[in-house]
Amino acid sequence: MKGIILAGGKATRLYPVTKGVCKQLLPVYDKPLIYYPLSVLMLAGIRDILIISTPKDISNFQYLFDHGRQLGLHISYRIQPEPKGIAQALLIGEEFIGTDQVALILGDNIFYGDKLGEVLRQAMTYKDGATIFGYKVTDPQRYGVISFNKRGQPVAIIEKPSNPPSDWAVTGLYFYDCRAVHIAKKLKPSTRGELEITDLNQYYLKEKKLKVKLLSRGFAWLDTGTHDSLMDASLFIKIIEERQGLKIGCIEEIAFRMGFITRQNLLKLSSSVNTTYGFYLKRIAGYEK
Ligand code: DAU
Repeated sequence: MKGIILAGGKATRLYPVTKGVCKQLLPVYDKPLIYYPLSVLMLAGIRDILIISTPKDISNFQYLFDHGRQLGLHISYRIQPEPKGIAQALLIGEEFIGTDQVALILGDNIFYGDKLGEVLRQAMTYKDGATIFGYKVTDPQRYGVISFNKRGQPVAIIEKPSNPPSDWAVTGLYFYDCRAVHIAKKLKPSTRGELEITDLNQYYLKEKKLKVKLLSRGFAWLDTGTHDSLMDASLFIKIIEERQGLKIGCIEEIAFRMGFITRQNLLKLSSSVNTTYGFYLKRIAGYEK
């Protein structure tokens, strides 16, 4: 399975913070925001990853991750000239995806929870259709929202409804079978001029090929769309990390624990970062208390 991180957009809601730096590179406590969605793909066992960003920002991601070999990954890069919709990521990634299945994640989404890796790997076993994840929120009108029938089966997905049919928002993580690019090509731009990911999911739903996995209350799906939610996300990460002495979204640690890199590789990575982050990596590698 291939993985795509969509890390473009203008993030005008976060101006002036995002005028010079793109949103996905902003710090969420002790690491750039994009580390969190990258760690989700890695936990799913995905090692072939495409990062899509704007013409202005793509080089910063290349500087940050290079080819990804230091993490046991293969990372490639493509430009999205204009933010013309989340589903456009599949068209930009057509060659990269080839005939594979693909996981698409938004570069500003943070997931945290027990056995997240298991949940992801379970979704990957579904080879015929798509899987999306629902999360109960207090402000569903800001998201794609799932409508259920009386038997609790999903019947529709509505993008930012003014009267939400449920509290279940669609998160920015999507698993698709090998038909996703073909279907994305059929989509027409919405009234706001975007190829909507909700339209693609709706297509799978109509074909009865959409699995909706509802994340339980033990999971955290954090928003980073506003200054306040970005600050809340940082505090959340700080509190859990300090309490447990374990990091969330630490891509070097995940690469090691997933067996993508060796202990020696991790140690080498740790010595290039002379901060508490680097000391943490050294501890994980077993070389420091
Ligand atoms: O976060 C989950 C939500 O993401 C879903 O519930 C919605 O169904 C989905 O449409 C999307 O809603 P947003 O309002 O969050 O979408 P937004 O336009 O803010 O884009 C999400 C991220 O993707 C953001 O970091 C910018 C990036 N993006 C977006 C578009 C449309 C791109 O890189 N390129 C794009 O063309």
